[in-house]
Amino acid sequence: MHPISRAIWSLVGSLACVGTIVNAAGVAEIDIVFPRTNGTYAPTEKFPIVFAVQNIELAKVLVPAFFSFVRNGTNMTLSFGHSTQEPTWGNYSSEPYFVWRYVNIDTEGPYEVFSTVSWRSCDESSDQVAILSNTTNFLVPFTIKRGAQDADLVAATDDDKICSAKGIAINFTNRTYDVPPNPIVDRQPSGTCAVLASASPTVTANPCRVKIDSAVVASMDAWYHAALCKGLNPPADCPKENNAGKLATVAVASFAAVLGAIGFILA
Ligand SMILES: *[C@@H]1O[C@H](CO)[C@@H](O)[C@H](O)[C@H]1NC(C)=O
Ligand SMILES: *[C@@H]1O[C@H](CO)[C@@H](O)[C@H](O)[C@H]1NC(C)=O
Ligand SMILES: *[C@@H]1O[C@H](CO)[C@@H](O)[C@H](O)[C@H]1NC(C)=O
Ligand SMILES: *[C@@H]1O[C@H](CO)[C@@H](O)[C@H](O)[C@H]1NC(C)=O
Ligand SMILES: *[C@@H]1O[C@H](CO)[C@@H](O)[C@H](O)[C@H]1NC(C)=O
Ligand SMILES: *[C@@H]1O[C@H](CO)[C@@H](O)[C@H](O)[C@H]1NC(C)=O
Ligand SMILES: *[C@@H]1O[C@H](CO)[C@@H](O)[C@H](O)[C@H]1NC(C)=O
Repeated sequence: MHPISRAIWSLVGSLACVGTIVNAAGVAEIDIVFPRTNGTYAPTEKFPIVFAVQNIELAKVLVPAFFSFVRNGTNMTLSFGHSTQEPTWGNYSSEPYFVWRYVNIDTEGPYEVFSTVSWRSCDESSDQVAILSNTTNFLVPFTIKRGAQDADLVAATDDDKICSAKGIAINFTNRTYDVPPNPIVDRQPSGTCAVLASASPTVTANPCRVKIDSAVVASMDAWYHAALCKGLNPPADCPKENNAGKLATVAVASFAAVLGAIGFILA
């Protein structure tokens, strides 16, 4: 790096200050709560894939992103429903915070949801606090079988005894930084980050604590229906005003929306 550039960057870098967003240390958690590991469900065009963020007030500074797809359980090269959900626009006022979508699975057989959750935190390892990215993968095998139970979120999350959800707990220190944009290295992430506690002692995740009630499911369905109505092929029962031509021309993905507990992006 040119010495003058370095001097400028040091000057700017010195502005990286301890932030104020996180008011306390604590533990947040990111889970995949549906499908359940080894669950067997009936075929449906609305098969839910649901992540939950526990302690969203703390976790939002992680700027989590959720990549997921479904693959054939016996032939991993056959996959569908790839999606990246980045609810940074979200209204985080609900706890826990759900990131969800539906996929169409109409054929019997073994499947897996493969997902990668990413988040960011502060890297204090050099003089210059930077933003570090980390990821974890969740692999959830399940089976689709005619006549099996419905993919019912309320029932699935209500049963503690056979809970097989997966999650990762993330322990925060009480420090956050505001990292300014780096004028020299393009696209280096900036913004607020949290300093995470060292990985030991390991914090245990408790994804089975997350319950989904019928009101949450009703909100999901309402948003799903509203999004379909704003899409290119609206169902027949859409309200008239939603069929306005100008709406139909807007990409479906831009109708990502949040209602209370719900973060939603169409695949
Ligand atoms: C799921 O099924 C696999 C294969 O039968 C088994 O090895 C695994 O322990 C099961 N996991 C859970 C959480 O039931
Ligand atoms: C898996 O699917 C691919 C793509 O359809 C196919 O070429 C391959 O033969 C399949 N493998 C098996 C073991 O069925
Ligand atoms: C999954 O892969 C197996 C082996 O290739 C194939 O026989 C089966 O039809 C596939 N299932 C689906 C739902 O595509
Ligand atoms: C990423 O997160 C895992 C799980 O919390 C942790 O063990 C690991 O040290 C982290 N990696 C980095 C580079 O921070
Ligand atoms: C933050 O944590 C450190 C070490 O645990 C403690 O000494 C300090 O008082 C805490 N600061 C605040 C503002 O809570
Ligand atoms: C979180 O990390 C702190 C150290 O920063 C540790 O004292 C505390 O026990 C950890 N919390 C849990 C639940 O493990
Ligand atoms: C967030 O949600 C709360 C409660 O549902 C609502 O009062 C508030 O207006 C919402 N904020 C935004 C920016 O949408």
